[in-house]
Amino acid sequence: MGIPVILDCDPGIDDAFSLAMAVASDDLDVLGVTTTYGNVGLELTTTNALRVLDWLGSDIPVYKGIDQALLGKVVDAAAVHGATGLEAPEIGPPTTTPQAEDAISFLIRTLRESEDKITLVASGPLTNLAMMLRLAPDVAAKIERIVFMGGSTDYGNDSPAAEFNMMCDPYSAQIVLDADVPKTMFGLNLTHQVLVTPQRKQAMHDLGNDTGRVFADMCGFFEKIYHSLGFEGPALHDPCTVAWVLQPELFETRSMRVDVETNTGLSFGRTVHDIWNIAGKDRHTDVALKADAGGFFDLMNGLLGRLR
Ligand code: BDR
Ligand code: CA
Repeated sequence: MGIPVILDCDPGIDDAFSLAMAVASDDLDVLGVTTTYGNVGLELTTTNALRVLDWLGSDIPVYKGIDQALLGKVVDAAAVHGATGLEAPEIGPPTTTPQAEDAISFLIRTLRESEDKITLVASGPLTNLAMMLRLAPDVAAKIERIVFMGGSTDYGNDSPAAEFNMMCDPYSAQIVLDADVPKTMFGLNLTHQVLVTPQRKQAMHDLGNDTGRVFADMCGFFEKIYHSLGFEGPALHDPCTVAWVLQPELFETRSMRVDVETNTGLSFGRTVHDIWNIAGKDRHTDVALKADAGGFFDLMNGLLGRLR
């Protein structure tokens, strides 16, 4: 059996890559996919998770999560991911439906029932995980680690200060960071090192299967926006989390205290990194600082190449 994981996501183009990598890997035992609002609304992110899994021939169950932040205005990233969140016409409508159980109940039940600790891989706003921790604090002891994409040691992408997933729900993010659980963070400072350059896009396209071609075309959808920001190609933020679970040696991390700014103002939603441990608090998060991008793409293409 592989490493037991649950993916909490808001597909989303880069979330779709995470799903595909997880489906392809023999080293993971994906117990379920839970969905959150985020890139687009919850109905669409849930539909997109089902679309991708169905198209890949996977029967991993999908559980629908919460549809809004604990507090604050609704934000989305439809400008980056398209109105449906996944503009990939070849990946048709889903043929399956989400499970009747909601995501938070599924997470709590599965963690409580499991003999082994489970790794939670989060690639959207952290509201589902925060609700789980508030409703059932005992489950923290059953979590191997929370590996999440969000925040940044430097600048933001939703505001000058804040990264999108954090900005969606900074309060939930702080609840998750405060949990007594090991954590690994992939912020923009890291994920902007993992770019789909034209050569990498071509290599993916040339894998020789439907997945390589369709996923390379999906990158084409959001590359314009990254080019306009001065990047060589779009960043594959979310799949860094799955890649770390499979091959942590691809990333350099450093332990530090991380908090989120929850006071409104210019820095609302920004992650604050105590790299020198100035506050003397527990260094509870391993923050990814450097990626072996070539190694990441080798791993990812190897996995995508196994699919349809
Ligand atoms: C994050 O925001 C979303 O748009 C992406 O899917 C990723 O999780 C990057 O800031
Ligand atoms: Ca995401």
